Amino acid sequence: MKVLKDFDLKNKKVLVRCDFNVPLSSQGEILNDFRIKQSLSTINYLKKKKAKIILLSHFGRPQQDEVNLKKYSLKPVALRLSKLLKTRILFLPDCIGEKIKEEIGKMKPGKIILLENLRFHKEEEENDSGFAKKLASLGDVYINDAFSACHRAHASIEAITKYITHGAGILLKEESDILTDLLNNPKKPLVAIIGGKKIETKIKLIDSIAEVANWILIGGLLEREIKAKEIDFEDPKKIILAVDNLDGFDIGPKTIELFKKKIKKAKTIFLSGSLGKTEDKKYQRGSQEIIKAIIKSRAFSVAGGGETVEFIDEIGKHSKFGYISTGGGAMLELLSGKELPGIKALENESRN
Ligand code: 3PG
Repeated sequence: MKVLKDFDLKNKKVLVRCDFNVPLSSQGEILNDFRIKQSLSTINYLKKKKAKIILLSHFGRPQQDEVNLKKYSLKPVALRLSKLLKTRILFLPDCIGEKIKEEIGKMKPGKIILLENLRFHKEEEENDSGFAKKLASLGDVYINDAFSACHRAHASIEAITKYITHGAGILLKEESDILTDLLNNPKKPLVAIIGGKKIETKIKLIDSIAEVANWILIGGLLEREIKAKEIDFEDPKKIILAVDNLDGFDIGPKTIELFKKKIKKAKTIFLSGSLGKTEDKKYQRGSQEIIKAIIKSRAFSVAGGGETVEFIDEIGKHSKFGYISTGGGAMLELLSGKELPGIKALENESRN
């Protein structure tokens, strides 16, 4: 896999796939900018090298071609990025097309453009070659720095690498190296704690994660879905579901104690997702207690994902974890032993 230093970047139009999929309030405010901050190393490197920087990202999950700007525009990200970098960012209202090409054509070295949400085009999630070719035609080099989206075989992640010289950004390389190293020979017992919202992504991974983990502790929506659908797992002894709950929105005291016992024994812990409806203060206790127990344990602890990091930051515990990843689903896929399509694609040569 090529990395930034393998390219001559001066004056080159560099397409950087970031993951700016950050939590947003109903008023359109960014609730946590960890993913944006983590992308700064690559952007600053490219600035220093006098590249023309074109940033690409998805945001949320708009329905097929649904262009709801209030909910899904990347404009708030452009504003935050511009504040963080103390520089002007030109935000363009689409991510493909002649007008976009024209604006890119006018760029001076060191300047930055952020393109609008890739998922406003349904072809992005379809991994469509035509769409990927259009994206590739905007730049000279493609850099993937979106570790947290590498589990998605989407056009800006996978198909694009067939049509343009490509490599990994600083963040993607760091995250995949650290997590792969950790998983090559993890200290056991390994405990995975899984909650959060993206249940359809997570349910599919549980059996494979159980091959690596000693126990998987599950709470929140995921636990309810497993019970409602009566899902059976290949190794049920390893799967520990919450045994009580608070109004259905948080894990209860018995579950907290049960989970704490396993956490105490762990040498490696992965946390992805909250165990309750943590956006409501009333239902934060379970997740908070579990995070405190993780920190108190002597295990190497890793947490990841947009909303997980948001909650950890809110309670001021970020620096207490061994490693915080931008990836939630991506981290779990890696833990499940799967090869991430985005990383695999970077290892292949482009056809041009
Ligand atoms: C994430 O938040 O895990 C990534 O941004 C991927 O988002 P997705 O689950 O909507 O594909």
